[in-house]
Amino acid sequence: MRRRSVLPAHQDDMEKGGGKQPQSRLCFLATLTAMFWVLIFYFHFAVISTDPDASTARTAEVRIARAVLPFREPDVESRAELPIAPPVRASEPPPPPVPRSKVVVEEESAAEIRQEEPPKVVAGPYPFERALKTAENKSDPCGGRYIYVHELPPRFNEDMIRDCKKLSVWTNMCRFMTNDGLGPPLGNEEGVFSSTGWYATNQFSVDVIFGNRMKQYECLTKDSSIAAAVFVPFYAGFDIARYLWGHNISTRDAASLDLVDWLMKKPEWSVMGGRDHFLVAGRITWDFRRLTEKESDWGNKLLFLPAAKNMSMLVVESSPWNANDFGIPYPTYFHPSKDADVLQWQDRMRTLERPWLFSFAGAPRPGDPKSIRGQLIDQCRSSSVCKLLECDLGESKCHSPSTIMKMFQSSLFCLQPQGDSYTRRSAFDSMLAGCIPVFFHPGSAYVQYTWHLPKNYTRYSVFIPEDDIRTQKCQH
Ligand SMILES: *[C@@H]1O[C@H](CO)[C@@H](O)[C@H](O)[C@H]1NC(C)=O
Ligand SMILES: *[C@@H]1O[C@H](CO)[C@@H](O)[C@H](O)[C@H]1NC(C)=O
Ligand SMILES: *[C@@H]1O[C@H](CO)[C@@H](O)[C@H](O)[C@H]1NC(C)=O
Ligand SMILES: *[C@@H]1O[C@H](CO)[C@@H](O)[C@H](O)[C@H]1NC(C)=O
Repeated sequence: MRRRSVLPAHQDDMEKGGGKQPQSRLCFLATLTAMFWVLIFYFHFAVISTDPDASTARTAEVRIARAVLPFREPDVESRAELPIAPPVRASEPPPPPVPRSKVVVEEESAAEIRQEEPPKVVAGPYPFERALKTAENKSDPCGGRYIYVHELPPRFNEDMIRDCKKLSVWTNMCRFMTNDGLGPPLGNEEGVFSSTGWYATNQFSVDVIFGNRMKQYECLTKDSSIAAAVFVPFYAGFDIARYLWGHNISTRDAASLDLVDWLMKKPEWSVMGGRDHFLVAGRITWDFRRLTEKESDWGNKLLFLPAAKNMSMLVVESSPWNANDFGIPYPTYFHPSKDADVLQWQDRMRTLERPWLFSFAGAPRPGDPKSIRGQLIDQCRSSSVCKLLECDLGESKCHSPSTIMKMFQSSLFCLQPQGDSYTRRSAFDSMLAGCIPVFFHPGSAYVQYTWHLPKNYTRYSVFIPEDDIRTQKCQH
């Protein structure tokens, strides 16, 4: 099927690792997501890239290996534990990564077609002809950026917020639903934050944050025939969060099946078979990729439904082996409302004294023999230049935004080993604090956030292969 050429000019900035080619409507989507967090990221890079020489020197200081980055496909065992909230650990292993999808091939040929396309729209008998023309209309500031939002029945979104107590077995999510999902404002008694723009934001809140943000988007349209993309405001992350533990697979899959059934009956679906549809979820992709119908398998099968394979889903951790999901950053606590707030924050972070060479906030994974967290914690504990914030003891300070941000603000390097899954919200908190993240697995950032982070990862981070920790090649 032909695709609409609705690419914004900066499509080149958005390479996706692992051979994924952003879908055309999606490119502008990226812009949307980027706009959403752009301030924060703008800030991150500016802070981090101000003094490359110094950072190089420091890097040498901790004897960091900058290895080349072949992204190995991890074996199932290497991610034996699950992406989850604190107290109890999930007993179910995560689904093994599935082999590279054939969709990639299709995507590539589509990309070729796109490049060869003449600038003028060749009107054809396509149901999306109007959308194409609108996209090409230079005098329309929203040309190529119109979004149509499906009006889903409230059971797919608002009802979940009303029933917020069910959203997590571990945490009462209700307070995090305030302020359109940003959570309650954070006071600045300790001077760690700025006086405005800081909220106690839960890391799994992207569903509602993005959903509400879209309501303010300047190029919404009620006319789906001119839309460049169709947003499906289904809170997929909240949905599965309710049922991940102790619910049978039919309960876990129910809302997803209900959703695709609803969507496919809509006239918008037939225009491109759903390829112009996208959803956003604040959970990791493995929660939506149950491979079998075994009750013991993890998550639901949303991303394996034929309809979902046509759609695109933005998630906080994507699968490098599939083409229908794309990684977007976890939310941080900072939600600036204007550029000036960002600039001011950057200036402050640049001038901070950072007494700790490195720091780590997290818990060990004693049940996972491959986890390097235990070793990192030991090294940190025995070092006079490392600050450790241990998270394994119940209600710890580890969940206090000010404790975490204070520690990151006083550290040069922040260790970001994988935990239950590859990625961590902590990586973004550290960048926000001007602390250089140290990654140990390419899946923790480099192959994930290709729309947001610089391709040249040495510009903002340090990479130490996990094996160098295991073999004690890299020791502090
Ligand atoms: C292009 O956009 C402008 C501004 O929105 C509008 O007035 C005009 O009718 C559009 N042209 C076409 C061919 O749709
Ligand atoms: C799954 O659980 C739901 C709710 O607990 C129950 O009504 C349903 O019968 C169960 N289905 C199967 C197939 O066990
Ligand atoms: C997915 O898209 C293809 C065209 O690209 C279409 O033929 C197919 O029917 C779509 N699948 C569903 C479930 O609509
Ligand atoms: C990546 O960035 C580093 C540090 O800024 C620089 O020294 C290096 O030349 C860059 N590499 C490439 C391939 O651009």
